[in-house]
Amino acid sequence: MRSPLFVTLEGIEGAGKTTQMNSLSAFLSHSGVEHVTTREPGRTAIGEAVRTLLLDPGRPSLCPLADSLLYNAARAQHLHEVIEPALGRRQVVLCDRYKDSTMAYQGHAGGVPLSLLQTLHRLGGLARDPDLTFLLDLPAEVGLRRARSRQKLSREGLSRFEEMGLAFHQKVREGYLALAAACPERIEIVDATLPPGQVSKHLVRVLQDRLGLGG
Ligand code: TYD
Repeated sequence: MRSPLFVTLEGIEGAGKTTQMNSLSAFLSHSGVEHVTTREPGRTAIGEAVRTLLLDPGRPSLCPLADSLLYNAARAQHLHEVIEPALGRRQVVLCDRYKDSTMAYQGHAGGVPLSLLQTLHRLGGLARDPDLTFLLDLPAEVGLRRARSRQKLSREGLSRFEEMGLAFHQKVREGYLALAAACPERIEIVDATLPPGQVSKHLVRVLQDRLGLGG
């Protein structure tokens, strides 16, 4: 029986995570690999409620620590209800954002001490690390331009994070790159300025290797 694998996708706004999640999921379905696709914050009833609260551009501002605790609360419930049970069934889990988002957004860019975020992550049920993380990397100005034109097309308002300035997203990107430098065996940096089809091919090849699927 195949080993379960916990795969996360990370990146700044406009990096193309949703497109890549869809293509990895299509590849796994085509290969007959049982898997679950999920995202953070969200997926569980509590997680979706926390998501609405966190991403509402109209809500009063939260201090960075409260912000981090809410992301971690949503994560604890997500691990308990979705991720651990799926891994227990030996399924592959594809998750759009996970703990590296907290480290990059609340830690590197938001100023919450990384040691505190690590401690929170290690608490009880939160100790699970991904087996493989794809960091879809691109300059913050390119990502924001893409996110803004997507919003124009869908006529949605900008989310709270997309409203934050270029300097914030640059710090998030630098944070991600620092995390990848510290964990090269887990985090694979992928050039997200390449055409989406080319990015997908690369991700599929890496996943294929990790799962020992013939190509
Ligand atoms: P979402 O609309 O899902 O954005 P994207 O399509 O870019 O993933 O909103 C998720 C937002 O939440 C995103 O701006 C990053 C932020 N976030 C954090 O700040 N910390 C976290 O731990 C997580 C999971 C997300």
